[in-house]
Amino acid sequence: MKGRGAVVAASICQALSGGMVAQSVDLIPYPAELERGSGHFSLSSETSILLSPLDDEVLRSVVELWAAPVRAATGFPMSISPGPADEGSVGSIAFVLEIDGKGIGTAAAGPKSREAESYLLTVTPQAIRVSAPTAAGVFYATQTLRQLLPSDAEGTFAAYAAGAPEALQTTNGADGAASPSRWRIPALRVRDAPRFPYRGMHLDVGRHLFPVEFVKKYIDLLASYKMNTFHWHLTEDQGWRIEIKKYPRLTEVGAWRKETIVAKNVSPYVGDGRRYGGFYTQDEVREIVAYAEERHVTIIPEIEMPGHSLAALAAYPELACTDGPFEVGTRWGVFEDIYCPSERTFAFLEDVLTEVMELFPSPYVHIGGDEAPKARWERSELAQEVISAEGLADEKELQSWFIRRIENFLLSHGRRLIGWDEILEGGLAPEATVMSWRGMEGGIEAARQGHDVIMTPTAHAYFDYYQGAREQEPLAIGGFLPLERVYAFEPVPDELTAEEGRHVLGAQGNVWTEYMRTTDYVEYMVFPRLLAMAEVAWTPADVRDWPIFLRRLGGHLDRLEARGVNYRIPEPEGLERERLTFEETIAIELFSPSRNAVIRYTLNGDPPTDSSPVYTGSLTVPVHQEGTVVTARAFLADGRVSAWRTGRYMRTELRPPAGVRAEELRGGLRYDYFESRIRSVARLRNLSPRRSGIAAAIGFQGGEREDEFGLRFSGYVQVPADGIYTLRVTSDDGSQLYIDEDLVVDHDGRHTAYVQSGQVALAKGFHSLTLLYFESAGGQSLEVEIELPDGSRQALPGAWLFHSP
Ligand code: ACM
Repeated sequence: MKGRGAVVAASICQALSGGMVAQSVDLIPYPAELERGSGHFSLSSETSILLSPLDDEVLRSVVELWAAPVRAATGFPMSISPGPADEGSVGSIAFVLEIDGKGIGTAAAGPKSREAESYLLTVTPQAIRVSAPTAAGVFYATQTLRQLLPSDAEGTFAAYAAGAPEALQTTNGADGAASPSRWRIPALRVRDAPRFPYRGMHLDVGRHLFPVEFVKKYIDLLASYKMNTFHWHLTEDQGWRIEIKKYPRLTEVGAWRKETIVAKNVSPYVGDGRRYGGFYTQDEVREIVAYAEERHVTIIPEIEMPGHSLAALAAYPELACTDGPFEVGTRWGVFEDIYCPSERTFAFLEDVLTEVMELFPSPYVHIGGDEAPKARWERSELAQEVISAEGLADEKELQSWFIRRIENFLLSHGRRLIGWDEILEGGLAPEATVMSWRGMEGGIEAARQGHDVIMTPTAHAYFDYYQGAREQEPLAIGGFLPLERVYAFEPVPDELTAEEGRHVLGAQGNVWTEYMRTTDYVEYMVFPRLLAMAEVAWTPADVRDWPIFLRRLGGHLDRLEARGVNYRIPEPEGLERERLTFEETIAIELFSPSRNAVIRYTLNGDPPTDSSPVYTGSLTVPVHQEGTVVTARAFLADGRVSAWRTGRYMRTELRPPAGVRAEELRGGLRYDYFESRIRSVARLRNLSPRRSGIAAAIGFQGGEREDEFGLRFSGYVQVPADGIYTLRVTSDDGSQLYIDEDLVVDHDGRHTAYVQSGQVALAKGFHSLTLLYFESAGGQSLEVEIELPDGSRQALPGAWLFHSP
């Protein structure tokens, strides 16, 4: 933690310890710069709103979006008064459109629109003043103001956003003036601007669709966390969801599947026997687009091509390379039937895109491009003719040609193309923006080619992944993406130069809905992970701080509650998955992000129940040689409970060094390189290496092929002092790290890049080390970090690695 983060920590701790929680500034995403003042501005029946310029309709509508629910909640008239919006208008809240001549903040300069979305908010006991260069900046200032009001008003805001304000009474009761002190905003000064111009959330309505009211609620929620893009995934194998006037069968046929597979893709197939479907009419789309526009959210429509198009082929089989018959998908996955690259297909897609562009003012249109198997094109006479007529090398280049052709069409209509990172294969369309999902590599490659990039890698941004232990979670697609890992996301990879890094427009969370049948299910998967992503995309990297984020989160869970959001209750924090100690007891500090939650724990591995002991602020447990297990869970006042989390604490002794002498050893580890289809590191045991050599450090040695290979490193690590070491391995795919023949980090299996750690107590000197690794498909990474007994961390130094010749 550095710089401003430290100040925040102090002020929040003071607020908590002083019993002044209501005064803490729990903003999410945290502003670029915030300074606390003293005292408060109190809303009252005398409060007036000033606008400058008074006749700017957009400014007025942005301010009303905030002011109308505040009036309803407080009962104060807060009328809009003409008049100078100068400092010193006592009792006023002024909203001023102006260019701030001094520029904004000191953070690294980003793309142009950073300025456009910036705002300056000053709250003193006398007055509130907001200034911004655009209405978007004013909108974000009102979101900050909203979060500075007590969460009591959230229900009122939500009712207004849902278009049902008549259902409300004032939160203040009949006499608003009776309790003016409730409506206080702490004195402060916020100078704020987003880190990234693109801050997105995606929603797949192909697998399951959701009512118009829900789509609006989703947009309202992401906008209040200062996200500005809704990526609406409208077409899928399992359903076409947007009315296209020229092709009525898309929704008559393509929007309906005869049934849905039960649970996961299993064999034999079991369907639920229930027809499922629906779509959004063009009127509904226009209504949603207008709703988003009021909240400064751009909707990027996605019309998938050439793959994920089975529903369209079921409606119009002549767009396929074979005769079919096709039916709308009832199971999940990737299907071989895709659009054939025929003139008929292009005419169809151009007609569809023409209607889509009329509905969506977005400068971008997403055309998918992912997961398009080439089997049909390989066997299609037509596709092969296009390949030879256009001088293309293969089907990958044919896909690239397909996408370029669509890009030309979009460009000729003043729109830009976005596609998933597969559009890199066979050559990127000249002006395409790439959405990097299979890791960061696609984004890195595209940025190096000078293309804009949106980072949305599975490892940090797939909200269809599990967020806790599988046994405790509703069915999800797989993976593991806890809140902390979303928060740890860094969208600009180190590999990029500063210039290349500027092509990273931002980040997005993706929500694929195979298993999310209801809106409650979607909300459970999205919240609170959306809040972490919002902060990744808005807040300067050096202001982000995980423990402090968790402290701020509690108030937002209350706000989500008041907005009727079925968020996931976070588990208590403070347990370590596995920790070694030389001591006989260990002190554990637990924390629940949920305000007013009671934490209960057990020491026998059982999930805590409402009769388990209550954690009262400190917990010291004996540590047994065989391990002490602590399991903790948060209990909310209304009877809801979090998932439980378990920590294991083990007493340990130093492992003596290996019986080797420094003179017998040479620098570096021995490595072996294998080529094979590998799904677990155990497979390496039965393979003969392709080549072997000495590695100066753990990592790729150069010359590995793209997929389906393995590496084994073996030798010794020389540690500088007695103590407990933590080893952290990041790998994609699987790996295992052994020290003195014992498995210390087990990170085996096919997976994306993330960290797995383990501890080991080592006496000073040499210890044998073996690291096994394999790469199956997709992205690849391998890094080992070591944490020393003094708590410092570094990449495992090459100078500590040896082998016997
Ligand atoms: C994707 O998740 N298939 C983009």
